[in-house]
Amino acid sequence: MVDIGIPRMGTAVPGLLMIALVAVSVPPPATASPKAGNVTEERLQKSLEDGTNWLVKGGNVRGQHYSVLDQVNTSNVAGLGLAWATDIPVPDGVAAVPLIVDGVVYLSAAFSHVFAIDANSGDILWSHDPRVRDHFADRPGLSWTARASRGIAVWGGKILATTADCRLIALDAGSGKPLWTRQTCDPALGYAITDSPYVGGNKVFVGNSGSESGQKNRGYVSAYDVDTGELLWRFYTVPSDEPAENDTPAMKMAAATWSGGALEKYGGGGSAWNEMTYDPETGLLFFGTAGALPYVHELRSPKGGDSLFLSSVIALVADTGEYVWHYQTVPEDSWEYNATMNIALDELEIGGTRRKVLMIAPKNGFHYVLDRATGELLAADKFAKVNWASHINLETGRPVYLPEAEYWRKDAEAVVSIWPNMWGAHGWHPMAWHPGHKLSYIPVMDVPSMVSEYADGDFADTLEIVSEVAGQPFSPGKLVAFDPLSGEPRWTVGHRLPFNGGIMATAGNLVFQGDAEGAFSAYAADTGEKLWSVRTGSSITAAPATYALDGNQYVVIPVGSGGGIQFVYPKLGSTEESRGPTRLLAFTLEGSAAMPTKPVVPRELPEQPELHASQETIDTGRQIYAWECAGCHGKDAVARVGGSVPDLRYSDSQAHARWHGIVIGGAMRAGGMPGYEELSVEESEALRAYALSRAAELR
Ligand code: HEC
Repeated sequence: MVDIGIPRMGTAVPGLLMIALVAVSVPPPATASPKAGNVTEERLQKSLEDGTNWLVKGGNVRGQHYSVLDQVNTSNVAGLGLAWATDIPVPDGVAAVPLIVDGVVYLSAAFSHVFAIDANSGDILWSHDPRVRDHFADRPGLSWTARASRGIAVWGGKILATTADCRLIALDAGSGKPLWTRQTCDPALGYAITDSPYVGGNKVFVGNSGSESGQKNRGYVSAYDVDTGELLWRFYTVPSDEPAENDTPAMKMAAATWSGGALEKYGGGGSAWNEMTYDPETGLLFFGTAGALPYVHELRSPKGGDSLFLSSVIALVADTGEYVWHYQTVPEDSWEYNATMNIALDELEIGGTRRKVLMIAPKNGFHYVLDRATGELLAADKFAKVNWASHINLETGRPVYLPEAEYWRKDAEAVVSIWPNMWGAHGWHPMAWHPGHKLSYIPVMDVPSMVSEYADGDFADTLEIVSEVAGQPFSPGKLVAFDPLSGEPRWTVGHRLPFNGGIMATAGNLVFQGDAEGAFSAYAADTGEKLWSVRTGSSITAAPATYALDGNQYVVIPVGSGGGIQFVYPKLGSTEESRGPTRLLAFTLEGSAAMPTKPVVPRELPEQPELHASQETIDTGRQIYAWECAGCHGKDAVARVGGSVPDLRYSDSQAHARWHGIVIGGAMRAGGMPGYEELSVEESEALRAYALSRAAELR
């Protein structure tokens, strides 16, 4: 991989020009202070006692999404009011956690747009657009990944940002000007980045995604020097298909656990695509890994073997990238149960000994407690409905599998319900850890995947909202307060929709979460009692943050649902609120601003050509649509409301007239609409007929 260094842009104003500016006393341009973004190792270490800032995505140095601020607490949270609201001028919502450093909020949104916002007034100080969209014409697949950006990092006066086309960019925190850029993976090989970089020890750590791209894709994490952008080390999460390249003890160990041709064909996957935690106390960097193609273990590793380090938690020496330990959550994973969920650190009294531990609640529905220094498994208990394993054997660390969820052993026609679903009982939305109550607060999606039409690794997968289980009313989305020592939930709050926001806990005995229906709420951290809730007008998938400024505690939440799932399963989030604007809201006890409102205009169908096609043609169109188009335009041709991918039911006569030119010819490639040269005019016509038939159902 080639590093593309971009020369420093002129951040210094030439002396003469500066004098001229002063002479006519033009006010300086709106930028943050020259000391902006001053995150240091020392300040990060102090974040356990000082909640003034939210320096890293996980809030404090232990990645707990927790703040020691308690000005807002159970006794007064009912009085929280809006201090300011800022429209974020990017469609497709926000999935990122805001960072707050010395009075400036830093936030990223779709297309990796970065914003610096005055934490007192909400004014946008600067913004940076890495022009990901300019690359759509060459890589239309980016059109999907680029719409999810889960955050940025700040260190030593720099903002570190990633782009879906695999760039790692350092910006000057005061001005937003680019300082250096590195190409950290190759999008031509199916790699992309949707998550933020992570920082510690003057290094920036960055992973990537792409295990499921179908291309030869081998996951890895890289570390760069924050100042110079120099690549310091790279750790591969799975072995190479070239035996000679597996020259470290870790890669030798991993290589012995693969058989068959999966490494050669698919590269091994195991992407580290989500939150990492840097721990200065042990000098370790912790992150989780994804699964790989083919999904089914018997096909991936036909002669057995655990396929290390898939679906694992990995600890590396942060300085050198050297392997220290791993714990594999699902050794023979066939369900794509990624262990990439956020990792919280603490100390717990277990069996009479005080242990330095880490907590993770991966997709597979078990909450794990591991020894931070050794990776030893200390506890593993279910936090959601699970039917793929009965329990985790604490001696061997391995799950005890159940046949119920083994879809690859069932008849091709059988429909198998798998709990949790492939998007996870817990996804990328951060959980929080309360070090006082010793509870994890997990945004849970209690919804099964229905696997059907299984044949040799290929299957149709649907997410089903379950409204009733055995006659009991059931919430597909939940906020679960989980006690890792008892292995039981302490309390649970239900939501009507599955995809809700990430969590923040505070020393004010509070837990904050936004939901898919647009409510932002606070609960008592010990009992789950709802103490405050406000309707924001937009569905929420991001997680909140908090900071103190001029003696006031602020709670900030980005609204407007962001992240990839909205394109695949838009109906699960389709409420009035999913149409709402993308905004950053800040609340304080003094806040008295009115919530901005935007009237929802009902959408009317435009003039469209008549539908003459046969039912057979429409059915052909439906099938092609499900495979080729649904990922962006939405399942059943229902697009994300308010997003930037058009809803094809509403395409007008002009779009229909240009249809084949767009679909086959790629006439809209520059806008992120791939061209499908391989489709025939008949197939494109069948797709058009299907879109019209879906529109007819609206009339
Ligand atoms: C990677 C994401 C992606 C995929 C996959 C995709 N599209 Fe699109 N499509 C887009 C985007 C983004 C636009 C809007 C482009 C623009 O505004 O310039 C679009 C626009 C269109 C339009 C124009 C609609 C209008 O009303 O102007 C049509 C028609 C269309 N797509 C059909 C399809 C069909 C049929 C498929 C499957 C064969 C498909 N698309 C697959 C992203 C995608």
